[in-house]
Amino acid sequence: MLKVKTAVLVSGGGTNLQAVIDASQRGELPDAELSLVVSDRRGAFALQRAEKAGIRTEYIGRDGFEQKLSALLDECGIELIVLAGFLKILSADFTEKRPGRIINIHPSLIPSFCGEGYYGLRVHEQALKYGVKVTGATVHYVNHIPDGGKIIYQKAVDILDGDTPETLQRRVMEQAEWILLPKAVEKVAKEIRYGKSY
Ligand code: GRF
Repeated sequence: MLKVKTAVLVSGGGTNLQAVIDASQRGELPDAELSLVVSDRRGAFALQRAEKAGIRTEYIGRDGFEQKLSALLDECGIELIVLAGFLKILSADFTEKRPGRIINIHPSLIPSFCGEGYYGLRVHEQALKYGVKVTGATVHYVNHIPDGGKIIYQKAVDILDGDTPETLQRRVMEQAEWILLPKAVEKVAKEIRYGKSY
């Protein structure tokens, strides 16, 4: 059986994409083939990371985004979609057509600090404001509820005295996101390839 053709959707700097690319280049993703990177932001640095790694990149603007995305995914034979710092909320119509085929990395321990409006630095600002002592990251399946799908992996990260949203975001990325996402891509790709129910 062929490797699972995988697309990564991005909006920003692409550090999570880079973690997946690096893991793939280290041979840690034997069941996934990184075939496509799509951004909804023309200038996303994540696109440059993909180009450097020799992965096809596409920018899709707001008008008819999901329709164009669906057509592109079909054209490329994509079987697994990874949201990595992707800021658009995909419609129920789009996600429900692809059960178990879309995964997302969120920078908190869901169900804390997630859902509508919780993304990027704002997640860490809210964790610090609440005064939690532990946060972390979650990889989950994507359904029509923002950050609502079945959890795949989680990893806890301590909050330290003097943490700012920026220092906390960096630690959560380094100690959780960049570790969990490649692991989840391989786990789900393997399940798709060999038919294990997810
Ligand atoms: C980060 O806050 C990450 O936690 C979230 O999206 C933001 C940008 O990630 N998933 P990236 O550097 O573009 O991967």
